[in-house]
This record gives sequence, structure tokens and C-alpha cells, in this order.
Amino acid sequence: MTQRSSARPAVLVCRAVFPAALERLEEHFDVTANQGDELWSQEELIERLQGKQGAFTTGGERIDAALLARCPDLKICANMSVGYDNFDVPAMTAAGVLATNAPGVLTETTADLGFVLLMAAARRITESEHYLRAGRWDRWSWDMLTGQDIHGSTLGIVGMGRIGQAIARRGARGFDMQVVYHNRTRLPESTEQALGARYLGLDDLLRSADHVVLVVPYAAESRHLIGADQLALMKPTATLVNIGRGGVVDDAALARALQEGRLAAAGLDVFEGEPRVHPDLLACTNVVLTPHIGSASVPTRKAMINLACDNLIGWLTEGKVHTPINPEVARP
Ligand code: DGY
Repeated sequence: MTQRSSARPAVLVCRAVFPAALERLEEHFDVTANQGDELWSQEELIERLQGKQGAFTTGGERIDAALLARCPDLKICANMSVGYDNFDVPAMTAAGVLATNAPGVLTETTADLGFVLLMAAARRITESEHYLRAGRWDRWSWDMLTGQDIHGSTLGIVGMGRIGQAIARRGARGFDMQVVYHNRTRLPESTEQALGARYLGLDDLLRSADHVVLVVPYAAESRHLIGADQLALMKPTATLVNIGRGGVVDDAALARALQEGRLAAAGLDVFEGEPRVHPDLLACTNVVLTPHIGSASVPTRKAMINLACDNLIGWLTEGKVHTPINPEVARP
């Protein structure tokens, strides 16, 4: 934990960031930084936010009405993530606290990981590596570790925001896939044409896709959007990838479908209640699991951190907003 004092606005950096970002913040603020990467309880977070006008948050810190009532100096919480399910946005707006996130800068990197998981799961890459490392590869057979094709297959994307569209481009242009998508709001026809993507209702998409990628944010309405009933609609040869948020899939139902061979494979970067992972998923061999690393390339993580810093500096020094979630707070 580092602490420097001056009469400038005070900012709490909740988790470790790269040194140049901290130096940037220190040019403008009195910074308290958790460089030790220690995990705080809610009570410790509230304690450390006392007297702070700004918080650099990673997406894991819960900013709710109870916290806001006890942190009256707070003016902005800047998430370095695009997702903001850690924010109670209406409560922040009511308290006059600006909420910002980091959209745009992680789109391509996260779409890359979606494809990594899709290909690794459909082509049984993790399973193959474990097989080899375990010394089980003693002969060749025609059906040894056979999976499903990516090229030329039908890719279903649920959640067609920036990342969903980046996945569609990879599928259509890179792998000659037919792309179908489902989204709360249908895209303009010109965008559909440019992406080569066709809109379908969720059930139709699940029935017709060879591979399904979920890029849906978590909200009360999206909880268990993919549960036992939806999994039952999918082809038994299909792959399900989740790079959106945990809780959008019913992980227990998914593990059952994978174990019973009702779904061929899954690739998961996000989990219900992460960093815990459902033990039944851990027991499945036909699932590729990564610890929420969708945006984890060095340049992208730096860009995300820099954008959160831009938001803190912009708002607290000149009332300027870059990527607000509740822009109404910024309006005069
Ligand atoms: C995001 O930005 O929401 C990602 O999930 C974090 O890696």
C-alpha cells in the first residue's frame, strides 16, 4: 500500500496497476494504491474510501447504496472493465456519483479469446494435450480425439455488441462460417449485411447453430438465460462458449449436459460466483476453462487501465467525461 499526501483530490486505486498508470494519477491526485493486490472485504473497501473523491475499480468491487451512504465524498468510480455488474448504477446516479467503464479498447482481444475457446473446445485441444502428457498416446486411430469443424459451420452469437460483432467478423471472414445472432435489439440491416449475419430468435439460434458464443452482460434478466431447457435445444455435436459473464449460464445444468453427452463441448472464461468454479464443471473433460482472461493481453490491459485513469483525471480535474455509464450525473 502506498500513500502520498497533498491538498489535491484523493483517489483510491483498489488493485495493482502498472507503475506508469500510478505515476499519471499521482500527477493529479493524492493516491492511495493497493499495489500489494490484497483482496479487501466490503468493510475494508468502505474504510479505505473515506475522504476519497475517486475510486479506480477493476469490476470486482461492489459499489452499492449501502457503500455510497457511508462514502459521501465519492464523486466517481472508474471501472477498468467494460462490464459493470459491480455497480448499482441507479444508486450511484441518485448519489450523484459518476460511473464509468472501459468499452472499445478490449473488443478485439476479447473476441480473440472467444475464438481460442471455441476452437480449443470444438477440436478438443486441452483434452488432447492432457492425453499426450499422460503418456496415453501410444498409437494412432481414425477417431482418436476427433472433434467438430469450425470452418464452414454455423456460428450463433448471443449478444451482438462490439465484441459479438468482432466475433462475427472472425467467423464470416476468417472461417467462412454462416453467422446467425440474437440480441435484445436487432442490428440495422446495413450492419447485418456488412457482417454477413442473420437475426434469429434465441431458440431458433440454439437449434440451428453448430457453435454458440455468448457475449451477454449479467443482469437480473440475463440470469440463467442458458439453462437446462435451452441446452436441450442445442445439437449434441455443438460447442457452447461463454466469454460474457458468469450467471448467464446455469453452470450445474451445463455440466450435466456435458457429462451426459447432450452437448459436445464448452469453452468458459466466466463462471457463476467466480473465482469459484462449479465442481461438476471441473470434473468434465470436454470443457476448456480459463480464469476470466478475455481481455488479458498486455497492450489491452494497459489500454483499459489508461482509460479508467482518463476518466478519473477528466472528471475530477476538469469535469470532462470520456465513457460514462450514467451521463446524467455529468449534465449541468
Ligand atoms: C470486462 O472488461 O468486463 C472483462 O470481463 C474484464 O476482463
